[in-house]
Amino acid sequence: MTKVAASILSADLANLQSDCTRLLDAGADLMHFDVMDGHFVPNISYGAPVLKCLHAALPEVYYDVHLMISEPARYAPDFAKAGANLITFHLEAVPDAVGETIDAIRATGCQVGISIRPGTPVEAVYPYLDAVDLVLVMSVEPGFGGQKFIPATPERIAAIRTECDRRGLSTLIEVDGGVNVETGPLCSEAGADWLVAGSSLFNAADPAAVARVLHSK
Ligand code: DX5
Ligand code: ZN
Repeated sequence: MTKVAASILSADLANLQSDCTRLLDAGADLMHFDVMDGHFVPNISYGAPVLKCLHAALPEVYYDVHLMISEPARYAPDFAKAGANLITFHLEAVPDAVGETIDAIRATGCQVGISIRPGTPVEAVYPYLDAVDLVLVMSVEPGFGGQKFIPATPERIAAIRTECDRRGLSTLIEVDGGVNVETGPLCSEAGADWLVAGSSLFNAADPAAVARVLHSK
């Protein structure tokens, strides 16, 4: 079944623990923790100290950390220590050091994800499909929650899924940005394993109903 990753960027940050608990009770499977540095993306969010507190409050939760930062290998150990289970970096942040970045994250003991912006050809991740646990396909430009889903995304997911199948790889595919009850099913049909949902879940009157639809495949 497709997993639902609730993006904390849309949470009430003054009541982070209770807002996450509310979403977990509604059916979210894991928490997606967006880190923005104001350099790789034009916005600043929060860092490892926030994850450390959240992890202490909710230790059983799986933390999917999405680093939208310029120096992922430098900061990955901080996030691992703070409680990350999986750390995803952007290929575009380290175009000449992708392999080294994968190794640096792997060395922290966390699972490894690689992400691509909407304008990056999917073929750019093909050399790394057997070295990572997950590919995160951005369906909006990274940097802000609440944006509109880019319609070309399902075919990008399908292409990566086909390449993984061709090579017999079980690499997970995650999609992030503008995922809601209309766009989420298109992504799972195309082969996405994890759907990140921020505003569509946190702002929903009935988040359990949204999670049910997102889980439906
Ligand atoms: C955007 C972030 C997303 C964002 C998703 O740069 O990576 O995780 O929080 O938010 P929604 O679901 O509202 O598009
Ligand atoms: Zn994200």
